[in-house]
Amino acid sequence: MKHTRPKGTKDFVPPESRRKQWAETEFRRLAELYGFQEIVTPIIEHTELFIKATGETSEIVTKEMYTFKDRSDRSITLRPEGTPGVARAVLENNLRRPCRLYYIGPMFRYNRPQKGRFREFYQLGVECLGEADPGSDAEVIALGYEFFRALGISDCETQINSIGCRGGGEGELAHPAHQCRIAYHEQLRGYLAGLSAQLCVACQVRAEQNPLRVFDCKEASCQELLAGAPRSKDNLCPACAEHFAGVQAALRARGVPFAINDRMVRGLDYYSRTAFEYVSRSIGAQDSLGGGGRYDYLIEDFGGPHVPAIGFALGEERALLAAQPNCDFGGRLVFVVALSANEQSAGLALLAELRAAGIPAQMDFDHAQVKQQFRAADNAGAQYCLILGENEIARGTVSMKDLATGEQQEIKRGDLIGRLKVS
Ligand code: HAM
Repeated sequence: MKHTRPKGTKDFVPPESRRKQWAETEFRRLAELYGFQEIVTPIIEHTELFIKATGETSEIVTKEMYTFKDRSDRSITLRPEGTPGVARAVLENNLRRPCRLYYIGPMFRYNRPQKGRFREFYQLGVECLGEADPGSDAEVIALGYEFFRALGISDCETQINSIGCRGGGEGELAHPAHQCRIAYHEQLRGYLAGLSAQLCVACQVRAEQNPLRVFDCKEASCQELLAGAPRSKDNLCPACAEHFAGVQAALRARGVPFAINDRMVRGLDYYSRTAFEYVSRSIGAQDSLGGGGRYDYLIEDFGGPHVPAIGFALGEERALLAAQPNCDFGGRLVFVVALSANEQSAGLALLAELRAAGIPAQMDFDHAQVKQQFRAADNAGAQYCLILGENEIARGTVSMKDLATGEQQEIKRGDLIGRLKVS
């Protein structure tokens, strides 16, 4: 083979590409039902955007970005996630808030590929900007939950946590008492200082720079040491505790089942208060189907006003891995078969009629032989062959053959479209 795809990338070929389309259609349908509108932002952004938003100490920024200099010597990065670009676009285009936005598209992270982990992967994401109430957190979490149910994924657990507030905002968050994250960081730093010699080298640096990031460590020995670490949810300021209780009450009111995972802090720096993840046990080590959280300070960090926000991104490849393989994702192609050259033009007319009625239809122009036309129909994954011969044309009918069962019946032309639409 002369040319192969780059490591960690994937070709979506039929029928998998159709499953991908099905997942995206379901996502769009649900997002729009919840009042979200599509936003499309560039795949490339200025590198500083991710350093500022995703975080200087995050794994993504320190190890995983595809960064290069363009021909004008500007540092450009292939987006590793969608949130910073959306936040930038909301501010740059001066979008009226509150605004609810969704996106579907490829993201890029240079990591070690394995089952469910790619270097190019697709995310289905929503961002809800300008809504502060815990009811909005529950709304966003419920949307992701409903999406996985629509895909027939039944073993998905919704995990939630609160990592507290950072302070420094407007309104209630400006109050120095509302800086529980700062106090929690100090506590965690104190705990880690006592263990410093036993932590891995990377965690020793994390403990200094951003102690929350030690929870991202994959080393079993560090995880063991962290078992006794203070938990953010036990150190929330009154406003954050009330918010977290409000999220739980709103989820219960909606009937969305959830579990509290007080070790989950999420690996991106912009989060505050609510963090959540959808976890599946059926897809291997990369078990996070999606995740998100509040990011009440990001727009402010970009130089804008105080805009509370919450969102999530779902991993499309992982969702497809967990979804039922036999989900009904459409694809009822029909194939027109002309028994001889005499029926070719009648076949073309039928093809046009089917397409005009919105029924995907195809014909084999390369082969006159019926056997070969049937083989082409089979290869294309057609559900029915519509056979036109001298007799059918004389009687104003078509013979419809079900390719799965082999059953064949003659149908009046006038009844055909109606029959295909209900089958
Ligand atoms: P994230 O947790 O980095 O969050 O990614 C969200 C989801 O993307 C993961 O749960 C996983 O399903 C999928 N994913 C991540 N990396 C890979 C990979 N290498 N291969 C395949 N799938 C992957 C974010 O990206 C945030 N922007 C989410 C968010 C939106 N927070 C607020 N708004």
